[in-house]
Amino acid sequence: MASGFGYDGPLVLERSSAFMSETTPVRLIGMSGSLRTGSYSNAVLATLRDHFAGRAELELYDLAPIPLYNQDFEGEKRPPAVKKMLADIAAADGLVFCAPEFNHSIPGVLKNAIDWASRPAFQSVLAYKPCAIMATSRGPLGGARCLEHMKVALDSCLARIALAREVIITAAESRVRDGRLVDETCLGFASGAVEALISEIRLWRATAAKA
Ligand SMILES: Cc1cc2nc3c(=O)[nH]c(=O)nc-3n(C[C@H](O)[C@H](O)[C@H](O)COP(=O)(O)O)c2cc1C
Repeated sequence: MASGFGYDGPLVLERSSAFMSETTPVRLIGMSGSLRTGSYSNAVLATLRDHFAGRAELELYDLAPIPLYNQDFEGEKRPPAVKKMLADIAAADGLVFCAPEFNHSIPGVLKNAIDWASRPAFQSVLAYKPCAIMATSRGPLGGARCLEHMKVALDSCLARIALAREVIITAAESRVRDGRLVDETCLGFASGAVEALISEIRLWRATAAKA
């Protein structure tokens, strides 16, 4: 079937981890798009890393070395830091995005990483990759627009956002202390999204193992 998007073959869902046991920790990559020292979004990811230790290995990914996207440098011409990021995403079972709202959207740093990771379109390392999404804001009302824009961008890459209650951590300044999310309610929502992600990954492993 010709898709009109440069993709004419059957979709092949590759999961190298498909035959791992139920108890094998899932490998997750966490990305925020905040490069700020003391970032609340990174604090949420660090808290989730601690919370799920033993069940999931959540690596907080540093996006600082990722250059600005340039379509002149696709495929083999990708910069080394981008090649590494794509390989790391491909090797991970899932992604956890926790982004601060910037100008009613997602931070450019994160969008830039998604743009690199989204190529080739519909066959990229993001295609069918299970994800959890959450947003932070210092204000009392922010975050929702960031979450929506993250959904839209990830949908366009065919990423699979695990169904969960929406996670929007408002007034983040008051809920983070010493680099960790200390608000139990917010942690409940955030860990619920990661639980849903882990369930989806395990379901996928079990299905693929039977196939
Ligand atoms: C460029 C910029 C734009 C921002 N725009 C918004 C916004 O639209 N809505 C909002 O709620 N907060 C906005 N903020 C506040 C950030 O969400 C807040 O500073 C957040 O704590 C930054 O995330 P971090 O702690 O993970 O670095 C903005 C901050 C910056 C630096």
